[in-house]
Amino acid sequence: MKAAFIKQYGDVETLQLGQLPKPEPERNQVLIRVAASAVNPVDFHLRNGMMADTGTHTLPLVLGWDCSGVVEQVGEGVDSLQVGDKVLAFTPISEQGTNAEFVAVDAELVVEKPAELSFVEAAALPLAAVTAWQGLHRHGRLAQGKTVLIHNASGAVGSYAVQIAKAAGAYVVATASATKLDYVTSLGADEVFNERDLEWQSSNQYDVAYVAKPGIELLAESACCVKSGGSIVSTFDEIAEQQVATHGISFTRMWVENSATDLEQLVQLVKEKAVKIPIDSVYPLEEIQTAHLRSEQHKAVGKIVLVVDPLLKY
Ligand SMILES: NC(=O)c1ccc[n+]([C@@H]2O[C@H](COP(=O)([O-])OP(=O)(O)OC[C@H]3O[C@@H](n4cnc5c(N)ncnc54)[C@H](OP(=O)(O)O)[C@@H]3O)[C@@H](O)[C@H]2O)c1
Repeated sequence: MKAAFIKQYGDVETLQLGQLPKPEPERNQVLIRVAASAVNPVDFHLRNGMMADTGTHTLPLVLGWDCSGVVEQVGEGVDSLQVGDKVLAFTPISEQGTNAEFVAVDAELVVEKPAELSFVEAAALPLAAVTAWQGLHRHGRLAQGKTVLIHNASGAVGSYAVQIAKAAGAYVVATASATKLDYVTSLGADEVFNERDLEWQSSNQYDVAYVAKPGIELLAESACCVKSGGSIVSTFDEIAEQQVATHGISFTRMWVENSATDLEQLVQLVKEKAVKIPIDSVYPLEEIQTAHLRSEQHKAVGKIVLVVDPLLKY
């Protein structure tokens, strides 16, 4: 099968296109013919060797853990899906990825693609949106009427977080860099600030602070703005326990988990038009190096998507 993969860890030049053996679905798995895949920061981190010493992956490694496509083959024990079903999935980061013509996935992780979404849009949903969902609902204990602070609201996770928080009935204060404030306003945030301004820092006002980017200083500043009893959730950096304990707040450095249940909740929000799919750019699989550069240089506003099979349209 056609695939983009790395045979060694390193910079963007290590990404190559070629042929790899087509995977076989194991018991309780389906084989998906991939229409589109997406790029997330974890792709370039792994490409650079972030987990090289852990023995998690074998080379050649196919990156990418979002996909949309069509069920090509059904493994033994699967009765929830059929050949020809149009689907999307967030596949396990510990396994071979989705920047390839085919991927074998546990059927329990696969969700039906709604007709409203193209394959490109569907591939842009799973990893980033589930990260935002779990960060706010599971770790941040989001609820109606809560006041939520979201940093990096123009990134993929942040774009979904703003919309998920609004859909839950929260009051949303979001930050981004100066040129992206109109975009974040268009997502529905109630107040939008340049992250460098001090205005978002009026103390003790937030129930939840969601920090969806690296930055120890930003975490510490955000912790100071969370009400006693509230929570701060980070997608990247850690903060010292005593730093949050003095404020009476909880801290979670989250790790997103594969969950079809959470993904289905997001599909439902999309169907209800409460969540729009924020697409930054779309590249053919052959231009994966350009797509990785865009991600690694932090230029994206929303999701970067790779079209794997241009013949699969809806
Ligand atoms: N823990 C987990 O389970 C998990 C899961 C998914 C993602 N993540 C992490 O969450 C963060 C957001 O992910 P994402 O998919 O939303 O990323 P993304 O779409 O690539 O975010 C892009 C935006 O990040 C901002 N940015 C600027 N400098 C940055 C820097 N040095 N590092 C990171 N972002 C920078 C830029 O916005 P401005 O110009 O407005 O600053 C840029 O538009 C990443 O750090 C990612 O690694 C963690």
